[in-house]
Amino acid sequence: MHKVMISRIKGTQDIAFEDIDYWHFAEEIIRNISHKYAFTEIRTPIFEATELFKRSVGESTDVVQKEMYTFEDKGGRSITLRPEGTASVARAFIENSFINLGSPVKLFYSGPMFRYEKPQAGRLRQFHQFGAEILGSESPLADFEIIEMAYSFLKELKINNAKLFINSIGCPACREDYKTALKEYYSDKLAGMCPDCQRRYETNVLRLLDCKIDKGLVQGAPGILDYLDSDCRSHFEELQWYLERAGIDYEVDQFLVRGLDYYTRTAFEIRSSSLGSQDQLVGGGRYDGLVEYIGGKSCPAVGFAIGLERIVMLLKSENVRINGPETSEVAILTFGREESVRGFDYAKRLRKMGVSTFVDVMERNMRNKMKHASRIGAKISLLIGKEEIERDIVTIKVMNDGSQFQVDSDYMADYVVDKLRDIS
Ligand code: HAM
Repeated sequence: MHKVMISRIKGTQDIAFEDIDYWHFAEEIIRNISHKYAFTEIRTPIFEATELFKRSVGESTDVVQKEMYTFEDKGGRSITLRPEGTASVARAFIENSFINLGSPVKLFYSGPMFRYEKPQAGRLRQFHQFGAEILGSESPLADFEIIEMAYSFLKELKINNAKLFINSIGCPACREDYKTALKEYYSDKLAGMCPDCQRRYETNVLRLLDCKIDKGLVQGAPGILDYLDSDCRSHFEELQWYLERAGIDYEVDQFLVRGLDYYTRTAFEIRSSSLGSQDQLVGGGRYDGLVEYIGGKSCPAVGFAIGLERIVMLLKSENVRINGPETSEVAILTFGREESVRGFDYAKRLRKMGVSTFVDVMERNMRNKMKHASRIGAKISLLIGKEEIERDIVTIKVMNDGSQFQVDSDYMADYVVDKLRDIS
């Protein structure tokens, strides 16, 4: 057999050692924040019927047109790896009749998403989102709480270089007039635009506003705020009132339309200039029509999602201090069979007392065992050889100063725990 080297798929990451500490840090804050805001966790499947995303995210979007991992399973069903979490939450809300729990229902999720995009710094094909959704409330209070929650998540992570942009894209009724105005504006420019825009002009003219290629034309386009009906306008004004009262800085960007079709009224993004070209950290908004559109009773909703790879990039670039790497506190180094049995027994006792204990399962000499124990950052090593078994003792080595003690095996655990307390 000849050797083959199998690499990970482009746009994916292996996260381990120092990197995983950043993830644990962020994930702990996700759980804390969600708990403090009284959101409960939902875990939905990583794959869903393709139709769910086509209908929710929208046929005319880049996500559905170009970026979905779609395949046929062995039963001939069309399956898609979820490109985002909101559609699945809405489906689960309907399927499990969460509406009967009484409104509002506040849910959060955290997990991998998949989009076939061109990989670059901060843009992956498998990435992770923390998302939160409030279902059942039409009030701008819900929009405010969602934005405020995303905001305080960033504050908790000590990410300060982030700016909130908000817009209202109205309801389907006021959007029709706006679409007509946009079509008029773009009609004499269309011939020089990219093929995607030419197609989107017919399928969903709003998408022209987030084209990466023809973005130069956006500045002269009509703005949606001039087309809002009075209900949508006052909804948007009220959200701004709450943001101001909470001291949350924002900028209105009336060309912010988001890349997913389900949005109504509020759309928002939090961007950070420290991120480079993929500067969007948080995306969210209201989706009052989605639940009904995919088969449920009419139910207004609003939510956000945060990209965790981008969070980790920021934490690293801003040198945010996180708890040091999780190292084992004690390493057990044994020489011989009986000695190893004793070693496993000590490990069991220490673990019961909450001590992280590494057992060296390599049969090698003392020097190499010690070298590895210090490489993994053990604070104390326990040495168990012939003499230790015969005299029913254990040799305890404090790694930072090299001091060594022999202790009766009955006192081993108490001694180690005390010593660890002294060292830290
Ligand atoms: P989104 O703006 O498509 O919204 O994604 C939210 C966040 O996910 C982005 O701001 C970014 O941080 C991260 N993200 C997206 N694509 C990638 C990628 N290829 N690589 C790395 N990070 C990425 C949504 O997904 C909506 N479901 C948000 C929402 C929840 N709206 C209402 N509720």
